[in-house]
Amino acid sequence: MADAPATKVAIIYYSVTGTIDTMARRLAATAEAQGAEVRLLAVGREDAQGQPGSDERPQQPTADDVVWADVVLFGTPSRYGNVAGRLKVFIDSLGAQWAQGQLADKVYAGFTASQTLHGGQEAVLLSLYTTIHHFGGIVVSPGYTDGSKFVDGNPYGVGHVTGGGNDQPVDDVTNGALDHMVTRALTVSRRLNG
Ligand SMILES: Cc1cc2nc3c(=O)[nH]c(=O)nc-3n(C[C@H](O)[C@H](O)[C@H](O)COP(=O)(O)O)c2cc1C
Repeated sequence: MADAPATKVAIIYYSVTGTIDTMARRLAATAEAQGAEVRLLAVGREDAQGQPGSDERPQQPTADDVVWADVVLFGTPSRYGNVAGRLKVFIDSLGAQWAQGQLADKVYAGFTASQTLHGGQEAVLLSLYTTIHHFGGIVVSPGYTDGSKFVDGNPYGVGHVTGGGNDQPVDDVTNGALDHMVTRALTVSRRLNG
């Protein structure tokens, strides 16, 4: 029997000081290690700080990347407890694809970061998922489906707290939660498309 086609994953994010960028790259590496075809895509590259040089920065996403994907993972820092405007501008550019039903029936999940412990992570992810419901997307949040979720404590997606100096590195707890979320998204997508 021929091998099943690789699951196509678009990781689309906004990051200024590098936290979401680091999380996105972890998701990409884990997905690729599981045989997925990954597009790592960053909006708003021009104001990135402390991140790889322009040659190493991911491409900007296009609507075609979302249409192409089986799994879409959106990443955004908390901006006053909401999705960052730069990512939202990209999402809001997808009206034509939405109208044609091209955003439906895919697996979606989100990841975020905030400076403070209660800096809006759950609100950010729920706000993001409101849009996914309008797409007719399939939100595959991690829930408490793995022991690791009782450690990082976020059933809505993955969130990292960057701390007062905005400098707490992405650690084993966050990486474990990212690995679990992307593995679950791939598993559900393969069941849907299998
Ligand atoms: C305009 C603005 C609003 C922010 N709002 C919040 C907030 O409400 N709560 C919070 O904890 N952090 C807030 N932050 C901090 C960022 O969410 C935090 O630095 C994030 O982890 C950075 O992600 P990045 O390193 O990928 O850019 C805000 C930052 C900016 C610039």
